[in-house]
Amino acid sequence: MITNTEVEKRGNQHPSHIVDFKHDNDKIYFTTHNGVILELTILRDSAIRFRYATEHVFEPDFSYALNDDVSLGYNELEVKEEIPEYVITTSKIKIYVQKADLKIQIVDLDDVVICEDELGFHWEENFDYGGNIVKMSKVCHSGESYYGMGDKASHTNLKGKRVNNWVTDSYAYGKDQEPLYKAIPFYVGLKENIAYGVFFDNSFSTYFDFANEKRNVTSFWADGGEMNYYFFYGPKIGQVVEAYTDLTGVPELPPLWALGFHQSKWSYYPEKKVKELASSFRKLKIPCDAIYLDIDYMEGFRCFTWNNRRFPNPKKMVEELEKDGFKTVTMIDPGIKIDRDYWVYQQAMDNGFFCRRADGPHFKGKVWPGECKFPDFTNPEVREWWGGLYKEMISDMGVHGVWNDMNEPAVMEVPTKTANLDVRHDYDGHPCSHRKAHNVYGMQMVRATYDGVKKFTFPKRPFVLTRAAYSGTQRYCATWTGDNVATWEHLWIANVQMQRMCMSGYSFVGSDIGGFAEQPNGELFARWVQLGIFHPFCRVHSSGDHGEQEPWSFGDEITDIVRKFIELRYQLLPYLYTMFYKYINNGLPMLQSLVLYDQEDTQTHFRTDEFLFGEQILVCPVQEPNAKGRRMYLPKGKWFNFWNDEVIEGGVEKWIPADIDEIPVFVKEGAMIPKYPVQQYVGEKEIKELEIDVYYTEGIENSSVYEDQQDGYDYKKGRYSLRKFRLRGKKNELIIQQFKDGNFITPYTKFKMTFHGLPFKIGSIEIDNEVVNPKDIKLNGNNVIEVSKDFTELHLTGQ
Ligand code: NOJ
Repeated sequence: MITNTEVEKRGNQHPSHIVDFKHDNDKIYFTTHNGVILELTILRDSAIRFRYATEHVFEPDFSYALNDDVSLGYNELEVKEEIPEYVITTSKIKIYVQKADLKIQIVDLDDVVICEDELGFHWEENFDYGGNIVKMSKVCHSGESYYGMGDKASHTNLKGKRVNNWVTDSYAYGKDQEPLYKAIPFYVGLKENIAYGVFFDNSFSTYFDFANEKRNVTSFWADGGEMNYYFFYGPKIGQVVEAYTDLTGVPELPPLWALGFHQSKWSYYPEKKVKELASSFRKLKIPCDAIYLDIDYMEGFRCFTWNNRRFPNPKKMVEELEKDGFKTVTMIDPGIKIDRDYWVYQQAMDNGFFCRRADGPHFKGKVWPGECKFPDFTNPEVREWWGGLYKEMISDMGVHGVWNDMNEPAVMEVPTKTANLDVRHDYDGHPCSHRKAHNVYGMQMVRATYDGVKKFTFPKRPFVLTRAAYSGTQRYCATWTGDNVATWEHLWIANVQMQRMCMSGYSFVGSDIGGFAEQPNGELFARWVQLGIFHPFCRVHSSGDHGEQEPWSFGDEITDIVRKFIELRYQLLPYLYTMFYKYINNGLPMLQSLVLYDQEDTQTHFRTDEFLFGEQILVCPVQEPNAKGRRMYLPKGKWFNFWNDEVIEGGVEKWIPADIDEIPVFVKEGAMIPKYPVQQYVGEKEIKELEIDVYYTEGIENSSVYEDQQDGYDYKKGRYSLRKFRLRGKKNELIIQQFKDGNFITPYTKFKMTFHGLPFKIGSIEIDNEVVNPKDIKLNGNNVIEVSKDFTELHLTGQ
């Protein structure tokens, strides 16, 4: 990796003074004497795009990252020319553009500096490849913190780190190892309680230096392409993440089963083993919704084929599994075996769909099947063809989901672990080399997969999983964090990676629970499951080299603990589904690092372990062996210990007991947490009542529950149910109001409410202003009531 200082030495060029200025609707152009053009686009009052050209020329504008229906429109825009600078004012921020050198300073309306150029834009001509190495440097202010950047296995706060985005097969990666599987060039800066974001939309290898090389400088640069970044003003971190997520998109709702528990291994075969696995789950009463088939189901690792000896009748097997409540997910890789008798290979050859080297021959690389060629997924025609290949697997065999692996693309036995840099790509009509297409290759593969799987799964919802990703990949699929290791350190890594991904607009994420490489012991496995059930995607996967990694592989005590936590996941499904709904509707990350939850509290700025699952459940994994508990920080506010209802006033670090069968979990006061009964798989039981755990507060708290048919697209036509609850607690009474939206009729008519921490003994109950006849309501002990009708207002008064 070239360092900043080396780069400086090799002849940087900088913009000179501004000689021309033009304002055209939402765009403002500044041209310098030495041919730099800055094109500034006002997307929203708080979202601005900065794009720089050299030699007066912009290349065609194209990006894979952007969502088609990004929200645009601003309330105010004023551009003024003053003596040393131009001043652009929106209703949220002011941007100063220096006439002398094109440097930028962004301030809020109180003139507090949010983000300012150090050297600002500069560049170096790329002698070897043409074009420029484009660079940007910003001032790093004292006390400034940095978050985001995808899957980096580093401290959540990136201050002091340097990272590289170049999607890479990183088997058994370590803490701080760079680069990893994803390229998400987006960070959140937090300075004096003001949050802002920078998204450097450039698919070349990009580098970010967060005050690592120079204490006062944060810089980012790319091996080619344009200096093209988006700036988002908060001032809250959540607003920044929402704005980035709006720009790069969100997925559709997954089928609810995709949020259940999934079991995978490299590999479950033959069919008999798969069946045994399925029946063990049911026999031991451990809920599970999906079983994965890794590469060994294929014939000689040829994608879209089945090994007939191992799986003589896949359609029947998939059907039988489905009857027993299991969905089947199969793997598809990008490398296509070179085999003249293999139809996928033939079709790609006949149609010219494989990538070529600079001088014309096909690019070849070794993967599981031996020598392979690789479809150019950046070509829309290739994507269309690839999507169509799923027809047999999905429509005829009934497979429910697909995971795309090795799509960096991973290539074996070469030092770069990937395609040669001279490989050519279509890049949707903007032909280029692999230097530019590498980071989006896997994204375009999984996009094609998603389109195909969706088409053939319709009218149900598709489920697709990817390993490689660039910004925007979240629109198509879930992702996992690749080949981790069964160590305690990796449990820590999984925790920070999931928080970081959620902070980077990608919420549907999970790790290989228990670790992919090596073998966990029972304790590590149990601790990992306890964390994993609080991750949006929850799957056990392992390399299978070192023995079994099923919930029952570690003795009865661990099996019972694992069952207890998987059951908890199933109980929390309505809460989790509501989190997903909020993520795709408001861009709200499904997991929140403490700093995202409460940035005003500086104690949160360097926390790594605690996070919010949704908005109201605080989780902190135990990450050490032999622990009986751990110290953790509880953010401000009152928190109920989930296991014993003890109330803790937050803003303190505390020892929290958590023996092997517990993990520290707290519920925010005032929260109403919806629960389903334990099911062995989604849809096993008709939901006859909605359980709601109500946590008292003296004050107000809002909660909600989103529900629909759990699959299919009727929800898009209004057939969903959104219950919004507003809880108001006083010394001697509690009022819960319900507001309903959508026209899906939930199958239940009863609510079972358990009140936690009520400071009074329930005396009377009114439902919708009517005193309830005791026969209509079951009052069980002091704190559980069953309400057998939908209500608008529930009013409890103390005796
Ligand atoms: C690498 C993937 O990361 C892993 O999950 C998978 O089991 C192997 N490839 C084999 O397909």
